Amino acid sequence: MIDVQAVRNDFPMFKAHPELVYFDNGATTFKPQCVIDAVTSYYTEHTSNVHRGDYAIAAENDRLYDGARSSFARLLNCQPKEIAFTHNASASMNQIAYGLSRSVLKKGDVIVTTEAEHASDLLPWFRLQEDLGVEIRYLPLDSQANLDLTKAEACFDEKVKVVAVAMVTNVLGSILPIKELGKLAHKYGAVFVVDGAQAVPHMPVDVQELDIDFLSCSAHKMCGPNGVGILYGKYELLEQLEPIFMGGDMNARFQKAGTYELKHAPTKFEAGTPNIEGVLGAAAACDDIQAIGLEAIHAYEKELRSYALERLSALENLVIYNPDNAYGPIAFNAKGVFSQDAAGYLASRNIAVRSGNHCAKILHEILGTDSTIRASFYFYNTKEEVDRFVEAANDISLENAIGIFF
Ligand code: ALA
Repeated sequence: MIDVQAVRNDFPMFKAHPELVYFDNGATTFKPQCVIDAVTSYYTEHTSNVHRGDYAIAAENDRLYDGARSSFARLLNCQPKEIAFTHNASASMNQIAYGLSRSVLKKGDVIVTTEAEHASDLLPWFRLQEDLGVEIRYLPLDSQANLDLTKAEACFDEKVKVVAVAMVTNVLGSILPIKELGKLAHKYGAVFVVDGAQAVPHMPVDVQELDIDFLSCSAHKMCGPNGVGILYGKYELLEQLEPIFMGGDMNARFQKAGTYELKHAPTKFEAGTPNIEGVLGAAAACDDIQAIGLEAIHAYEKELRSYALERLSALENLVIYNPDNAYGPIAFNAKGVFSQDAAGYLASRNIAVRSGNHCAKILHEILGTDSTIRASFYFYNTKEEVDRFVEAANDISLENAIGIFF
């Protein structure tokens, strides 16, 4: 059971904006005081670089920075050395794709993915289609982005080298059958890559149990700072993966002739001075959500979503695109009203949602519209906030929404 009122007291944003209903958690999340403290104490009490200094503060930062890997290893059930820090989930996904393009992939190989993916899980592969001549195949999804596994195998043959999918899609919140897809990927000898950006903050994700080869996610979607991505990989696969950024700290030695030797994973993926304060804040966030409990977070969000769905479904002015999904955001439109105008109207009632295509720019192939309003929840939202949201949604009309911009 989550004590939501107690939890909300930890988030200064709720004090700063007591009237705001924040349902844009798919885009980013609010930060608790422990995360803010972890970041500011780095600036006010223990500033130094990491992996470079021979003095006490630097040694302490080495301990804290590398210790942050253990927080994420506990979250994902892997080893600390299987966690590398990048700049965001997109950077992790680019590292995986371009890294594989230098070893595993060649012209004619196939990447299997879906039409419901966010840009960060498609564009790196599109670039490889352009540069390397790989082919992209899409798994068959229904209109709420759910996968019928019995039809999935038709996409597979010996040319499939990578399967790259989001565990939870960012617009519709569809949960893909990751364990079964992983089995299918491995049956055909493919690398199994999972975008965990919308899953890891919201539910238990056990990379060993799911047999995931690589996973990306970001700290800012789980109450951590911006600018920190997490790259998980099975250690032997990380060791084989080539880094895409070269520079300081990630190399063991280099010579005038242009020869070099890299450090082992995960350090070889962290060229240059990392976002140290961000990583320390990310670890604080990671520990915090684990203390609340991912099972509890998932159960609470499910309950909140189903309460919101039931109330929204009763409104005649709305069309809801993912009514049968049991989890995640609610994607909807007000009939006859452009999504951004409707979101502007909701903003005028102090309700923050996202509108548009949400970076999932080919989702319209299965959804039938390329512009929706997305209300996305987190463990600190309440039923009272849902009530205010539903009241405002009930009032959206062409007359009151048009021309409102923020
Ligand atoms: N990926 C984030 C979203 O879905 C920004 O809104």
